[in-house]
Amino acid sequence: MSRAHNFSAGPAALPVEVLEELQPALVEFGDMRAGIMEISHRSAAFAEVHHAARDRLRRLMSVPDDYTILFLQGGASLQFWMLALNLVGDGGSADYLLTGTWSRKARTEAARVGDIAIAWDDPDGRYDRVPADDEFTVRPDARYLHYTSNNTIAGTQFSTPPAADRPLVCDMSSDICSRPVDVGAHALIYAGAQKNLGPSGVTAVILSPWVLEQSRRCAAVLPGGLPSMLDYGLMASKDSLFNTPNTFGIFALERVLAWLERQGGLEAMAARNARKAATLYAELDRTDFWRPHARVDSRSQMNVTWRLPTPELEATFVAEAADAGLMALKGHRSVGGIRASIYNATGQQAVDDLVAFMRDFEARHG
Ligand SMILES: Cc1ncc(COP(=O)(O)O)c(C=O)c1O
Repeated sequence: MSRAHNFSAGPAALPVEVLEELQPALVEFGDMRAGIMEISHRSAAFAEVHHAARDRLRRLMSVPDDYTILFLQGGASLQFWMLALNLVGDGGSADYLLTGTWSRKARTEAARVGDIAIAWDDPDGRYDRVPADDEFTVRPDARYLHYTSNNTIAGTQFSTPPAADRPLVCDMSSDICSRPVDVGAHALIYAGAQKNLGPSGVTAVILSPWVLEQSRRCAAVLPGGLPSMLDYGLMASKDSLFNTPNTFGIFALERVLAWLERQGGLEAMAARNARKAATLYAELDRTDFWRPHARVDSRSQMNVTWRLPTPELEATFVAEAADAGLMALKGHRSVGGIRASIYNATGQQAVDDLVAFMRDFEARHG
């Protein structure tokens, strides 16, 4: 095999063990005499996969029993709009913390629907940090406070959820299942699967009972109700099977969650992720040659971003790294520089090899 160490921000590396489990299931799944993509989403065999995925996510994240778990399509980007439609679609208000590209997009979509205020935005526009709790206030009539737990592009992360008296709604796309979180402290959590959970095309959405009540209220006042595909209440009543879901994606996600359980669950993942991140940040702090983007207290454990002295050196770094078997290190076009995404499936060895490459690169170009 000639697989490189893959630092892609998403779709991202998946555990090889999982990929090897998916391979034979494409051709023949269990005793179905057909592959996993070729059987009905209403078959007993798929129901087993679907329910196992849901149950594993509930166990791994300690999702409260009265919360609903859905697997939807349309990515996190559709949730930007869907959650607003269900929560403030009757013209209600909500507040947003703007910590980068994705939270800005979430707010733009929500503002099509409700009265959305910006509770915090980075005053110097660098998005190199997340706000402290005393830097923002949430309107008392805001139905929820939206935040992005990990900012994939800038490489910043909340170490704990922001403190607010209002229900929390979180885009957890790029750090879900990387560490334990208090799901019960949130009203709604959503995440595109393609970083820590599986392939793109599946979005995990975790809803409190309050969200479903609110969704019913919005459906009742909107002329004709909510569009079916955007109605949490309907999706919940149909157990995510109102229409044909991404059956392969849910199967792959279920296998990733089983792998996570075998790794020891989220406590164990958090310890591994902390060690990987510490290894890489120690190298970034070792010499001025590297210029880490995120401020120390906001550093992401999932996406590590930094600059080199010149854009030319950055391009050389990315090219030489690829030749050395370290792929997808180019920073997002909006920020530039280098970004190493080190999600759950990226092992310590990949990070150690990256750091060894960085030392050699600095010796030659520093
Ligand atoms: C934090 C975050 N939110 C939202 C998105 C958009 O996700 P999707 O492409 O699933 O709509 C991304 C994609 O990278 C992301 O990193």
